[in-house]
Amino acid sequence: NFQPLKYIYKASGNPDAYTLLLLHGTGGDENDMLPLAENFGKSYNILSLRGNVSENGMPRFFKRLGMGIFDEEDLAFRTDEMAAFIKGLSAKEGFDPDKIIALGYSNGANIAGATLVKYPDLLAGAILYRPMQPFKKMALSGAKGNTKIFLSSGSFDPTVHPADTAAYVENLKNLSFRVDAHQIATGHGLTSEDIHLSALWLSENF
Ligand code: MLT
Repeated sequence: NFQPLKYIYKASGNPDAYTLLLLHGTGGDENDMLPLAENFGKSYNILSLRGNVSENGMPRFFKRLGMGIFDEEDLAFRTDEMAAFIKGLSAKEGFDPDKIIALGYSNGANIAGATLVKYPDLLAGAILYRPMQPFKKMALSGAKGNTKIFLSSGSFDPTVHPADTAAYVENLKNLSFRVDAHQIATGHGLTSEDIHLSALWLSENF
């Protein structure tokens, strides 16, 4: 049974606005990404979710069996749950379901990636910071895989190997996603360069 997710929604006041879907990293919550989203200006609605899986008290969007080893069955279930929740919320809160741009960090970027392949029509765009490939086998459910994706990785990230990121980017491109990938000389944490590059990408593409 699907559970409702905790969330914060802030309307921009413009009925045509895009909605930034904020998805935090492991141990975060729906408040975490709000300051980051302020870097993208005030023209977006903000929808920020809290992952409803707990790992020793740390919220996540899906279960993992170990560091970087995902419970793909739970990931598929949570992706379905989140997609249904967002669709319901768009009617309740009044945002355009065709104008949702995911903005996910780490674990949040990973469920955004799962959403891109499982629900290729749901997201208009996606910003993936420090992502890992969500499913070992990446296959599109449906035809449309042309969503624009911004992706940034850290060349010294101890949790995400650059070769794995490169393979993930290739797989996304092979599914016809339009990926703008950046490697930043840093670790797993976000830098001002991530913010700057993604804000530029957002303003140029949406
Ligand atoms: C994950 O579990 O999604 C990744 O290992 C990243 C994270 O630690 O959140």
